[in-house]
Amino acid sequence: MAHQILLHTEVEPYQTIRPQLEALGEICQWNPLEPLPPAEVLRRIEGLYNFGHHRLDGAKMDLMPRLKVISNFGVGVDHIDLEAARQRGIPVANTPKLLDGATADMTFALLLAAARNLVRGDHFARSAAFTHYDPSFMLGQEVHGAVLGIVGLGSIGYQVARRALAFDMRVIYHNRQPRAQAAELGARYVPLDELLAQADFVTLNMPLTPQTRGMIGQRELALMKPTAVLVNAARGGVLDHQALYEALREGKIWAAGLDVTEPEPLPRNHPLLGLDNVIIMPHLGSATHQTRQAMAQRSVDNLRAGLEGKPLLSRVA
Ligand code: DGY
Repeated sequence: MAHQILLHTEVEPYQTIRPQLEALGEICQWNPLEPLPPAEVLRRIEGLYNFGHHRLDGAKMDLMPRLKVISNFGVGVDHIDLEAARQRGIPVANTPKLLDGATADMTFALLLAAARNLVRGDHFARSAAFTHYDPSFMLGQEVHGAVLGIVGLGSIGYQVARRALAFDMRVIYHNRQPRAQAAELGARYVPLDELLAQADFVTLNMPLTPQTRGMIGQRELALMKPTAVLVNAARGGVLDHQALYEALREGKIWAAGLDVTEPEPLPRNHPLLGLDNVIIMPHLGSATHQTRQAMAQRSVDNLRAGLEGKPLLSRVA
């Protein structure tokens, strides 16, 4: 019998995922915003393809007793209960490394945009209020020569550091443990509080785990310089958004750039949306044609390997 695959609603622009999955077996396509497919369909499912960050817990896994593999489109797997998968012997795969460059580019784009008023400047230049050049107007923060503090020097953080060196920045970092790789960057390991106090720019590039959830809150923001810029390209859950709102409103930090929030999207009446010293993106860190295509291919290859009982190309649990 053909492999049975549960595909979370696919919106991939190139439509390359579905034809490849069809070649592997029979697909049940499910929109996670709608009720689950019937129990008899779930009981036959052997492969689950997770496109988007849909919550997958042990109770849902139990509805699929024949599940052999969970393949996630994306590197972050905080929406999947990895421990539940481990207990049930279901391997989980993700798409690491492929998106490091694109996500580091976005981290840096947000850093530059927040430092140099790119979004406010663009809105102003289009408006009737722009009548003449004013040298005293919309002054930003200097990026070159500044200190960058990277929280999470994994493979994305490493790429952020490389970009910072090209901007003549001095790099400090905080991580669960010091990284040998940091030496080649000239990056110095510091405790988190020291990083927050010293950095002109702080980028969050760590995964969301029980240890990093809420890592940057009121206390941490209060340690930052009033001229500092905070960029979150990790997950919204690492940052307390109410505390961020207060810090930005009261000028305790200068600006922020967020690729991600929690919840995502923020409620339309969230006070952060009313501030002009924060730039918010709709989670576009890895959203380039090239990277998304590479992620699609890797996640299909992971699923195929799992269904065929072969080692997964990038197994996370
Ligand atoms: C990831 O890979 O985790 C990105 O957030 C895109 O899903």
